[in-house]
Amino acid sequence: MSHTDEHSIESLHDRFTQKFGRSEHATAVFFAPGRVNLIGEYTDFTGGLVFPCGVDRGTTLLIRPTYNQQYRFASTNFDLMAQLDQEEISQTYGDNWINYPLGILDQFTRRGVELTGFDCLYSGNIPNGAGLSSSASIEVVTAYALNELLRTELSLLELVRIAQAAENDFVGMQCGIMDQFAVAFAETDHAIMLDCHSLEHRQVPLSLEGYSIVVTNTNQRRELNESAYNDRVRECRRALELLAPVTGISHLGQLQPDQLSAQEHLFANDAIPLQRARHIAEENRRVRAAVPALIAGDLQQFGNMMNESHDSLRDLFEVSSEPLNHLVRLAREQPGVLGSRLTGAGFGGCTVSLVPDDQVERFKAMVGPAYTAATGLTADFYPIAPGNGVGPLTSGDKA
Ligand code: GLA
Repeated sequence: MSHTDEHSIESLHDRFTQKFGRSEHATAVFFAPGRVNLIGEYTDFTGGLVFPCGVDRGTTLLIRPTYNQQYRFASTNFDLMAQLDQEEISQTYGDNWINYPLGILDQFTRRGVELTGFDCLYSGNIPNGAGLSSSASIEVVTAYALNELLRTELSLLELVRIAQAAENDFVGMQCGIMDQFAVAFAETDHAIMLDCHSLEHRQVPLSLEGYSIVVTNTNQRRELNESAYNDRVRECRRALELLAPVTGISHLGQLQPDQLSAQEHLFANDAIPLQRARHIAEENRRVRAAVPALIAGDLQQFGNMMNESHDSLRDLFEVSSEPLNHLVRLAREQPGVLGSRLTGAGFGGCTVSLVPDDQVERFKAMVGPAYTAATGLTADFYPIAPGNGVGPLTSGDKA
C-alpha cells in the first residue's frame, strides 16, 4: 500500500507544531498496524483459536509530555481537537474516537501510574469501522507510547491486556484479546496462531505461493455493532453455563463438535445459544485444520476452511450482512479464488479473499462493478502485505 509524502514523519511533525505549538520537550513517534483475521472468528472471547496477521496500514502517534496536567488529542483524520484537564480524563468523551486513548490513560491510572499531561496527534490510514482494528491500533500505540515515555516497563503482553481492558471497561465493547494481541505481536510475512485461553502463540510464515490476501471493504457502515457483539458474548456465556456442568469444560473454546451434538437436549429453551456454540466448536476445528494445511502448502484446504467459516458466521453466528454475502459470493465466482469470508466483527466491514497473484487486477475489475450493481455500494480493495507490530518510528520512516 502506498504512503504519500504527506504522511512522512517530517510533515507530521509540522502538523503537530501547527496544532500544539513549540515546546522544549521532545516529541516521540510510534506506529501500530491494523490487523486482518484469516480464520478463527468470534472465538477469542471464548478462549478459542484465532489466526490474524498485521497489515501494512495503521496508526502513527506523535506524543509530547506537557507536565501541566493538560491533555490534548488531535487527529489528521478528524477536525475535532479535545483539550482535557486531569479531572476530565476519567470520563468518556461522547461517542468519540478519543475514548480509545482515554481508556488507556484510565488503565494506567488504575495501575497507580501518575500522569502529568500529553499532547497527542494521531494519523491513521486504516478505514474506520471496517473490521481492520483501527481502534485496537489506536489503543495499542497509545499504551506502547505511555509505557516508553513514563518508563513503566510493562511487558508487551501487559500492554495488550491494558488495551483490551480499555475497550471492555471504558468503551464498553466486550471484545476478546485477538485484535490488541495481533496489533502488538504481528511480524512481517507471518500470521499468529493464538490460543486465546493460554495465550500460547506461534508465528506462522505466510508463504502463499502465488496467492495474495485481498481485503475488500463493503463500505457498508456498521450499525448496531456494539450491542449485537455484546449479545453474542452473552449467548456464548449461556451455552457455557449449560454445558460446563455436564462436560467439565471451563470455557467454550474447549468444546468439541461431537460433545455438543451429545448435549443438544440441554438447549431445549436455548436454540440461539446452541447455534452460537456450534459455530464456536466448528470454527476452532477449522482453525486446527487450516493452519497445518497452510504450513503444508495445501492452500486449497485453507481456502475451503475460509469458505466454511463465512457460511457459519452467516448462518449460525448471524453476524454477516447482505453486502458481505454479495461480496463473498462474487469473490468465490472469480477464477482461481481459493476462499473468501468476512473478517472481524462483521455487520458490514471487510471480506478477506485468497486470490491468485496474476488475477488480482481482474478480480477487482469483475467484483467491483458487479457488487455495485447488486448493492448500490462501492467496494474498496486493499491487497495486504502482512506487516510488523507496534514500535517506535524514526525520521526517514514513512508513517
Ligand atoms: C472484533 C473484536 C475481537 C473479535 C472479532 C471477531 O474485532 O474486537 O475481539 O472478537 O471481532 O472475531
